[in-house]
Amino acid sequence: MIIKACLFDLDGVVVDTARFHFLAWKYIANRLGFEFTENDNERLKGVSRMDSLEILLEIGNISLTPLEKIRYAGEKNNRYLDYIQHMTSNDILPGVKKFLSKVKSKKILLGLGSASKNAKLILEKIKITSMFDVIVDGNLITQAKPHPEIFARGAALLNTDPVNCIVFEDAVAGIQAAHNAGMKCIGVGSSDILKEADLVIPGFMNLKLEDITLD
Ligand code: G6P
Ligand code: MG
Repeated sequence: MIIKACLFDLDGVVVDTARFHFLAWKYIANRLGFEFTENDNERLKGVSRMDSLEILLEIGNISLTPLEKIRYAGEKNNRYLDYIQHMTSNDILPGVKKFLSKVKSKKILLGLGSASKNAKLILEKIKITSMFDVIVDGNLITQAKPHPEIFARGAALLNTDPVNCIVFEDAVAGIQAAHNAGMKCIGVGSSDILKEADLVIPGFMNLKLEDITLD
């Protein structure tokens, strides 16, 4: 395939904020009186804040009123904001910045596709906003992953056919979103979890564009 654009998820791909989302949800679960494990958390990765809360409540077998849901989602976000407030460019995952520069030098477009409403704040904190040609975040879309909207919107804004786009994702829902958008997807993380990806890499350290072989 001819790669014309690379679309990156943020949480768990560019930065290790997936850990902070987990800890913030775990805090909410504990407040509601049940345990929430890292295994459970895989279901929340890539999923919007309110959809994540619904999954969390299903795991805990708890029902809340709409107002209580808004309150708990807000509380989770405040906790998450506390975790990310001290982030700096040192928090970019190893090899990511170099890989982004390499891709850019080959005149391949760069897009960010994250369900997070905090995506722009994080990009500012880690100082890589200007590297992206387009940023699609949770404020811009209505349908969260695995719906293809985030990546389809990214490709459209980059004026690029989905068949020429590849997506980098750490979440099962994100891989499904990429495929639903008609794009190839590189899983970032463990191949045991990211079975549906077209290729799985452990991270970006020493990764070359030539290493990415897709049909
Ligand atoms: C990303 C993360 C999810 C998170 C979602 C919404 O997709 O992988 O874990 O729930 O963004 O994030 P937000 O910052 O808007 O709560
Ligand atoms: Mg992610």
